[in-house]
Amino acid sequence: MGELHPPVLVTRRLPVEALDRIAARCDLTLYDGEGAMPRADLLAAVAGKAGAITLLTDRVDDEFLDAAGPDLAIVANYAVGFDNIDVEACTRHGVLASNPPEVLTETTADTAFALMIAASRRIAEGDRFLRSATPWIWGPLMMLGQDVHHKTLGVVGFGRIGQALARRARGFAMRILYHDMYRPPAEIERELGADYRDLDDLLRDSDFVSLHVNLTPQTRHLINAQRLATMKPTAVLVNTSRGPVIDEEALAKALSGQQIFGAGLDVFEREPIVHPALLACENAVVIPHLGSATVQTRLAMANLAADNLFAGIDGERPPTLLNQQAFGG
Ligand code: DGY
Repeated sequence: MGELHPPVLVTRRLPVEALDRIAARCDLTLYDGEGAMPRADLLAAVAGKAGAITLLTDRVDDEFLDAAGPDLAIVANYAVGFDNIDVEACTRHGVLASNPPEVLTETTADTAFALMIAASRRIAEGDRFLRSATPWIWGPLMMLGQDVHHKTLGVVGFGRIGQALARRARGFAMRILYHDMYRPPAEIERELGADYRDLDDLLRDSDFVSLHVNLTPQTRHLINAQRLATMKPTAVLVNTSRGPVIDEEALAKALSGQQIFGAGLDVFEREPIVHPALLACENAVVIPHLGSATVQTRLAMANLAADNLFAGIDGERPPTLLNQQAFGG
């Protein structure tokens, strides 16, 4: 490390073991507020820093990079999704950008599978029902759901998390379809028994559709009214990627009109706001962006973000760098 204790910014409290590691090597400015760091505070706090650990709620763009000034070497995102970071702007400013992939793959796939089961077997609805103290007795037609086992899962975005979900689905004897811009190696297709489909064919043929794409201009509202209309009336849609991939207004209409059976949603178009029409749908299971939220995974993410930060300020190649060009190509 050039400077003995280079100044760094961490924009939210992280698991303490990782914060201790950072504080031991750096002059740490930590935003200790409960919510996202207010923009003006963020721009003021990043000035003169050598590195920053940012969250998905912090926009890293030209304004941020200008405010940081010439000493900023790295922005280490504490989220695998990096739609909050203008990576090209980082490269133009000669700033390294990193995210923490791999360490949250299995946990996020668990969450997606949990949402598939919760929405299809009406778990949250049943829980709400009992808590409402409505009188009940076991009945043959009470609160019937849809089977998961032996059904068809369509995975949209067949990267690490999508493949990890497919692995789980194999244990439930599910048939796997996938759609992606990139075809995985043939041995992955073989191992997972996964068949490629065009998006519209996948939506038409799947009982469960789970979204695992990055948010880009091309994937914003990828699932819109027209596409929802092609899904089976028994289908369940799951989203653990980014909220704006779904047109929420259209989804709420499809759910309330029983055009599809249900949805399991971890992320929302205008987070942290959840569309009121979705909240009114008994057949939507909604959770507050908990995809990677386990003790073990959040610590692993924080440690990887810290490793990236240290490498960046040391002038070394961060382990999970996003912009290779900023490190000399
Ligand atoms: C991510 O990492 O992108 C998640 O949304 C938060 O874990």
